[in-house]
Amino acid sequence: MSAVFEVANLKKSFGGLAVTSDVSISMHPGDRVALIGPNGAGKTTFVNLVTGNLAPDSGDVRLGGETVTRVDAAGRVKRGLVRSFQVTRLFHDMTPAEHVALAILQRDGRTGRMFGNFLSMPGVMDEVTGMLHTLGLERLMHRKVNEIAYGQQRLLEIAVAMALKPKVLLLDEPAAGVPQSDTGRIEQALADLPADLAVLMIEHDMDLVFRFAKRVIVLAAGAIIFDGSPADVTKDARVREAYLGSYANASHVA
Ligand SMILES: Nc1ncnc2c1ncn2[C@@H]1O[C@H](COP(=O)(O)OP(=O)(O)OP(=O)(O)O)[C@@H](O)[C@H]1O
Ligand SMILES: [Mg+2]
Repeated sequence: MSAVFEVANLKKSFGGLAVTSDVSISMHPGDRVALIGPNGAGKTTFVNLVTGNLAPDSGDVRLGGETVTRVDAAGRVKRGLVRSFQVTRLFHDMTPAEHVALAILQRDGRTGRMFGNFLSMPGVMDEVTGMLHTLGLERLMHRKVNEIAYGQQRLLEIAVAMALKPKVLLLDEPAAGVPQSDTGRIEQALADLPADLAVLMIEHDMDLVFRFAKRVIVLAAGAIIFDGSPADVTKDARVREAYLGSYANASHVA
């Protein structure tokens, strides 16, 4: 099976500091990858580089075999590469229904002309309702974002991302800032993602990582120090030293 997402020898420095140091990753449809590593390791920078939010110094990004290194961020979204942000970037005065509708119209190239009338567009509204139902947000669909809980806002971000019909989904700490009582819903939303979608999730909560990921990539000081199975990651000496020490030694890890 050919890779749906490939990053080759990606490099980026900020003022002489290598934040992304020769990073290569490939993903296939259905992959469930967790990208972990210490604060400042370069995880968010990696996402910014591959999505086109930041220009790399060198290296290539390929989507479905096509090199997109010089394609802008919107063009990469159109080709199926979608990300969420570490901190929510929702519009506080807009409703969940409006957010998802906007994503659908953007996906279909219908923004501008149509937005504003979407409530009377049955095709769009059916999809909006269906998507928000899947994420358990249907009853909040016409509330303003600033009136709904943070955990629900994070679920809405997943709904917006899914409305763009991604082939590759990059999630930057989707449960960050969410009270423990609400992380179960986010975890369920992740478990319910389409089986053929390739998902890479940045996450610090190792229990969540181990429940979600079939493969773990560890970034430390901008470089990949491990790419392999969840079972092996806790045994890796470099990973234990760089990041996982206390977790790997804890009794709940086999
Ligand atoms: N625009 C920028 N200009 C200069 N330095 C930057 C910029 N963006 C990120 N950095 C630096 O790059 C390094 C990596 O940051 P990044 O946000 O990618 O880390 P991270 O792994 O996502 O960390 P966290 O787990 O805390 O979210 C940090 O040292 C950060 O200060
Ligand atoms: Mg980050």
